[in-house]
Amino acid sequence: MSTHPLAHQADEPAREPVTLPLLAEMKEKGEPIVMVTAYDFPSARVAEEAGVDVVLVGDTAAMVVLGYDATTPVGMDEMVTMASAARRGLRTPLLIGDMPFGSYERSNEHAIQNAERFVREAGCDAVKLERGGPSAERARAIASSGIPVMGHVGLTPQSASALGGFKAQGKTLESAKQIAHHAHELQAAGCFAIVFEAVPAAVTEALMPHIHIPVIGIGAGLSADGQVLVFHDLLGMTAGRVPRFVKRYADVHDRMVAGVRAYAEDVRTRHFPDADHVYSADADAVAELRADLDQGTLATSPWDW
Ligand code: KIV
Repeated sequence: MSTHPLAHQADEPAREPVTLPLLAEMKEKGEPIVMVTAYDFPSARVAEEAGVDVVLVGDTAAMVVLGYDATTPVGMDEMVTMASAARRGLRTPLLIGDMPFGSYERSNEHAIQNAERFVREAGCDAVKLERGGPSAERARAIASSGIPVMGHVGLTPQSASALGGFKAQGKTLESAKQIAHHAHELQAAGCFAIVFEAVPAAVTEALMPHIHIPVIGIGAGLSADGQVLVFHDLLGMTAGRVPRFVKRYADVHDRMVAGVRAYAEDVRTRHFPDADHVYSADADAVAELRADLDQGTLATSPWDW
């Protein structure tokens, strides 16, 4: 587990860093695991101070941070930059780097190289990848190289178009069986946990007794061992439609717009900066400066350019 210069901030209650055995223990004891995404230093600080257990630098960054309409355009360099910024804001939660589209499909070697970048360059504790099938082989290779892997089944946004769009999976027997296969494959490949995304609650419930590693749900019901939401979604930082599984816990977007509007209004009406937000200077010095300016003595440079 990496240590960090922010490790001893006085205002934070001491809490042991979250480890894989701790997550397994939480599952065992039935203690819900709290996971949230973060993409930079401030969002990581919020996650740290709020006391979450796991932070995922998700490839949802492509959508909520970079403004794309899918997760696929984001690449390893951007993900590593965001993950290392998040690392600098974290002490306690387990930090997971989400392997973006194109970073693990090609070969086991390529997948291991990119997983290593998350650990070496960004200080991540683990990585996450999507789907079963060939991805389970990649998960096995990465886990065997010594890097813990989280799986992801159900709605896997990197393959959203093959799945018919951003919609719930597992609503038919065939689709539910596919989720069961993928979850078992990832578990057998050595994943330490699996995300279930947009899976009917009853399907998750049916699967839970068969999955022995922590299951983190997002739109997968209460029976999962923990829950994850996208930072921007849960705080209402993005305007517009959100998936059915998102519960908004704040309206940060509206408050930010109101804040910037109030600032703009103050600038336009010359109410900002006010006396509390300017620096003072010695009155005699200012008087002398004015006199010099009026005499024109400062209109030329003392230096011979
Ligand atoms: O990229 C992401 O944010 C995710 C979560 C939704 C689990 O994969």
